[in-house]
Amino acid sequence: MNTTTRQTKVKEFLWKDISLSIEPGKKGAKKCLLDNVSGSLKPGEIMALMGPSGSGKTTLLNILAHRKVPTHGSLDGEVLINNNPTTRSLIKEVSAYVEQEDSLIGSLTVRETVDFNARLAGIPKAYRHELVEETIRSLGLKDQSGVQVGTPLQKGISGGQKRRLSIASQMVSKPSILFLDEPTSGLDSVASKEVISMIKRVAEEENMIVICSIHQPSTSVFQLFDKVTFLSKGKMVYAGTVNDVVDYFGSAGYSIPVHYNPSEYILDLINIDFSTGTEGCQDDEYNQKELVLNDLFEKWDNRRPSLTSEAKEDEQEEKQDGGALAEEETYVRPCIRFKNYFLKECNRINILLKRSLIKSRRDLLAYYVRIVMYLGLAIMMGTVWLRLDNDQDNIQPFMNALFFSGAFMSFMSVAYIPAFLEDYSSYVKDNANGLYGPFAFLTSNFIIGLPFLFAISLIFSIVTYFMCNFRHSAIGFWYYVMWLFLDLVAAESMTIFMCSVFPNFVVSLSLTAFANGLWMSVGGFLVSQKVLNVFWYYTFYWIDYQRYVFQGMMFNEFSERVYRCNSECYCMYNSPLASQCKIAGNAVLQNLGYGEYKKGLWAGILIVLIFVYRLGSYILLKLRS
Ligand SMILES: Nc1ncnc2c1ncn2[C@@H]1O[C@H](COP(=O)(O)OP(=O)(O)OP(=O)(O)O)[C@@H](O)[C@H]1O
Ligand SMILES: [Mg+2]
Repeated sequence: MNTTTRQTKVKEFLWKDISLSIEPGKKGAKKCLLDNVSGSLKPGEIMALMGPSGSGKTTLLNILAHRKVPTHGSLDGEVLINNNPTTRSLIKEVSAYVEQEDSLIGSLTVRETVDFNARLAGIPKAYRHELVEETIRSLGLKDQSGVQVGTPLQKGISGGQKRRLSIASQMVSKPSILFLDEPTSGLDSVASKEVISMIKRVAEEENMIVICSIHQPSTSVFQLFDKVTFLSKGKMVYAGTVNDVVDYFGSAGYSIPVHYNPSEYILDLINIDFSTGTEGCQDDEYNQKELVLNDLFEKWDNRRPSLTSEAKEDEQEEKQDGGALAEEETYVRPCIRFKNYFLKECNRINILLKRSLIKSRRDLLAYYVRIVMYLGLAIMMGTVWLRLDNDQDNIQPFMNALFFSGAFMSFMSVAYIPAFLEDYSSYVKDNANGLYGPFAFLTSNFIIGLPFLFAISLIFSIVTYFMCNFRHSAIGFWYYVMWLFLDLVAAESMTIFMCSVFPNFVVSLSLTAFANGLWMSVGGFLVSQKVLNVFWYYTFYWIDYQRYVFQGMMFNEFSERVYRCNSECYCMYNSPLASQCKIAGNAVLQNLGYGEYKKGLWAGILIVLIFVYRLGSYILLKLRS
């Protein structure tokens, strides 16, 4: 049986004796996060995963979905689809996961969010529109379908609506298995019931398997589930049908009072976290509850063999039904299937480009704030270095202006970090759900950034070039734009690389700021290459993108310009024009130790450095995916 293609029909999802323990440190004892947890589900069934906070619900969902689990732990047990061990790629193909925390793109509307996920999942255009509208409607988001999710600067939909949108954007791809971590958190009881009813309806209609961790459902919500697993401290207290819960706990000696919410009663029974204390009576309560919990663990453990035989009976029945499931393997998720990998990637890049384009138009933080900032910077620079003439006293200020524009422009690429991290967190979620990989993500990110970075370079150059009075030449102006553009692309590529190393705002900000400080220091302006010590000269000086930008700008400005010496014909730099009381700009370049103007080579090196940063980011993301 081929379990590695998308055409696998999930007939049974089963997990057996899942145990996970971690070593917290050298001195700490081994901690058991999950202990022999088992269960199984058939298409159309919806299971609630319940237990006190910290009982291991998210950990179990992560293991079942082949998501990240503690690397310093030992994991045992099996996760099977149709009796075959699952692989990460198979689970990616057949399942979707709605995480406990929402990670949505703030500048997209509700409809766009669902629609882009449907496109990335390959839902054909012919019925995508209808499917998207139906999914939005069924999650009660119809009135908000045109409203933006919201960014830190722009208020959007509410927290509960975001939760429902996260569910909608995963349900739209109609996965065979849907993992939901706390889908009802932030929802009131009516909305919770609506959402779970809708999930149950879709699960039945689409033969979907749903595993859903949930806190304190009301009785009516609890009754909607087919099955339930109660965990406490990572161990099973009960797993089976919802209908049998009352009987089981009654037979175990813990009868659930009539008119009592069964799930609430059981959760209270198995939650001992808040009974801990130092006062004598609290200790008693804790001990009492621990005894009850241990008793429930034991009773459940003793019941296991009979469950195993029940499972075998089920299997037997299926075989007698003609074993139809074994042959019927072709489940085709409604998607466009590209045989050619290249075409598939191109299609994904195209969709991601459209998504980023919307974001770039609407997200103030991503682009507009940066444009205003760069414009402000250009005006500030233009007014400080205002209309400098050809006097030799202005040679140093011109050099400073070139250094400042190149170095500060790169430094300010840190402003892109928040927008990139938002994209990164939706990439992580989408990648884990099998929608697209690091190549499509980074390529679309690169392409969408180019016109924007070019626009910034142009705006900045128009203001500063003429206000500062750089060399009067159209070619000189366009070279200035080119160096700034390459500078910005390299700076942004480096910023993205830093975010890929540590996808955390404070850490990536610190790393990027540090790296920019380093490139400024060793670029040959603050300390000329003639003086720079051998360590820095033979290492970082050669891979400093700011150095090539600064050199390029220096040659562009000084190689064809002539300056006046002072009124007594004293010249700061000695050049062949000294007899005319002038300084040839080349003398300034020689003084800094520069040889020839190798603009092609330097631009080439910058492109290579950009490529290396992008490749580094790709490798990091690939390793992590
Ligand atoms: N990477 C990790 N390293 C160490 N301990 C961990 C790790 N991940 C989870 N844990 C521990 O495992 C236990 C279960 O965590 P988990 O997040 O699965 O709980 P939960 O049932 O989902 O809780 P909640 O209802 O609050 O979301 C907790 O005690 C948690 O501290
Ligand atoms: Mg959790």
